[in-house]
Amino acid sequence: MTPAVDGERLWRELETLASFSDAPAPAVTRIVFGETDLRARDFVKTLCREASLVVREDAVGNTFARWIGSDPTRPPVATGSHCDAIPNAGRFDGTVGVLGGIEAVRTLQRSGFHPRRSIEVVLFTSEEPTRFGIGCLGSRLLAGALDPSVGDTLTSNGQTLNEVRASAGFSGALSEVRVPAGAYAAFVELHIEQGPILEQRGLDIGVVTAIAAPASLRILVEGEGGHAGAVLMPDRRDAFLAAAEMALAVEAAARSTGSIDTVATSGVCDVFPGAINSVPSRTRLEVDVRDIDLARRDSVLAHIGRSCDDIAGRRRVTVRIEPINADPPARCAQRVIDAIIASCEAHRLRCHPMISRAYHDSLFMSRIAPTGMIFIPCRGGVSHRPDEYASPEAIAHGTAVLADTLAALSTAEAVEGGGSGRL
Ligand code: GLV
Ligand code: MN
Ligand code: MN
Repeated sequence: MTPAVDGERLWRELETLASFSDAPAPAVTRIVFGETDLRARDFVKTLCREASLVVREDAVGNTFARWIGSDPTRPPVATGSHCDAIPNAGRFDGTVGVLGGIEAVRTLQRSGFHPRRSIEVVLFTSEEPTRFGIGCLGSRLLAGALDPSVGDTLTSNGQTLNEVRASAGFSGALSEVRVPAGAYAAFVELHIEQGPILEQRGLDIGVVTAIAAPASLRILVEGEGGHAGAVLMPDRRDAFLAAAEMALAVEAAARSTGSIDTVATSGVCDVFPGAINSVPSRTRLEVDVRDIDLARRDSVLAHIGRSCDDIAGRRRVTVRIEPINADPPARCAQRVIDAIIASCEAHRLRCHPMISRAYHDSLFMSRIAPTGMIFIPCRGGVSHRPDEYASPEAIAHGTAVLADTLAALSTAEAVEGGGSGRL
């Protein structure tokens, strides 16, 4: 077992990282490639260099900080997460995995441990879909799960991903971001649970066994606008009202499976022209659908499509559905799960297997490396809100488990065999 993590230092670093925000504290807003994100990245890179890690960045801004092992010819073991934060988010989503990863390395360094395989901390670009509409942008490209042509097709306020990343200082071909299966011996991500189970059951650590299948889609409704006073109610083809019914249909589709594991959310609704005295002529909904069961998730997507067609016909509007992503679930690798459990036992922490309902960069890392996740409790299961909170003690526990897991995986003889993480 390694020496105690420096929980106070880690907590201070989490607070400093939270101060890089476009929203007033305690809210955190950090949109990828914005000035605040770039300052946050500089802070993280400085910590990595102070820990004598070798830092490099790829063309999409994924950042890799490597502690060179005694046998650098072997595939390294990696850990990490993301630092971007959705609008009005909290302080711990993603950041615990990045800063906890750095502290795990420092803890091992203080203990006198020397890794055999290199250990690498990765900061993934744009795990959150806020700016470019799709989550896990960096890890998707890294794992070859997204075509590099997205550089020209994904946009943010009229600028392509290629233009935005270039102005943020990340050039080079996106095709170079991909790493082959087997390039990493294992990947382990530390993250807050973002759900209530660990806290409710008085557990210290969740050992993730699988990650639910996320999908998202854009519903574009076109009706007819006009003067809010002059267009009579029977004549209206209000795009927003049709979209409102569609949002309710999204909820109904998720509930119709009867499974607690099916969830759907209409989190974006953009109304055009957005004037109080104008009948909405266009509305864009963005919908997120998830399930641990792929077939059931897909049946919900089909159900939503049928409902939208019915509503559009009845309300005399047109509807177009654009899929954004529809990813399969991932299974964590048994050998990584075993290493996490052994580490929990060494630290006398109560752990339990669980499913991740949120997605993470691990969803894509599991395609190229044996992958596992360490969850820590967060207060009330709250996440994606300013009052998101994980205690310093919980964070230190998770970091200690991560440190020992990385140590075990970095010395293990055979952990290779990536790309097996699809359920
Ligand atoms: C990640 O932020 C997710 O939405 O699951
Ligand atoms: Mn998130
Ligand atoms: Mn996250």
